[in-house]
Amino acid sequence: MAEELWCKASWLSFHDEDASLRFRFSWGMEGYEDVSADPLKQTWAGKLCDVIFPESVIITQNSAILAYLSSILGKNPSFVERIVYFNAPNGGAQFHHDVERGHAGVVFAQLSGATFWLAASKPKLMDEIIAFVQSDNNQAAIASVLPENKQQQALSKLCENRDDLSCYMEEPDHELIEALIDRCPAFIAHMVSQGFAHHLQAGDVLLLPQRDIDNCVWHSVFTIGDTPGEALSFAIR
Ligand SMILES: [Fe+2]
Repeated sequence: MAEELWCKASWLSFHDEDASLRFRFSWGMEGYEDVSADPLKQTWAGKLCDVIFPESVIITQNSAILAYLSSILGKNPSFVERIVYFNAPNGGAQFHHDVERGHAGVVFAQLSGATFWLAASKPKLMDEIIAFVQSDNNQAAIASVLPENKQQQALSKLCENRDDLSCYMEEPDHELIEALIDRCPAFIAHMVSQGFAHHLQAGDVLLLPQRDIDNCVWHSVFTIGDTPGEALSFAIR
């Protein structure tokens, strides 16, 4: 019944100065098995996390979180595909979503240290990308991350058609958008000015709805401060 469970520890970055470490709990063969297909194994993988990281109860037995999620889901939530993060200085995550069949979203709890987030639903992120790319004021900033004319034109063409942009963002290699949303300081400043930033400190919790690829929260994370911090990131189903 509880076979094939695993806890995988990974250094998260190719960046030499990023010591961030994460522990991920799941089952089966990664990238092959459909984890959502077996809720029971997911539940057992969650229990394995409970044993190794008893601080899991900060989420799993938090009456405010449980009441809120139950009111949204119409049932008691279960917490699966758990990740325990130790984000170190210079650590973080590029913009992405966490859509997984059968999952409603992700709950992230900052236990110590601090992180800075940009989080926006995909339609809103697309609005901001299009507005940014189509403003004359931002062409120098775009050229600083996409130096070739050909790349700049391809980005601007993508932004003329929402469906094309939406599909392109789901491609494993979406370099034109990555350059903008992950590596362009002016775009990040733009997102902050539009109210999409969150500064999480110990005790803060963020809920990230992940219903489907058209209605999910894209997010990027930056570790703040000089010391590593611990955080829990659990999928909700
Ligand atoms: Fe995520």
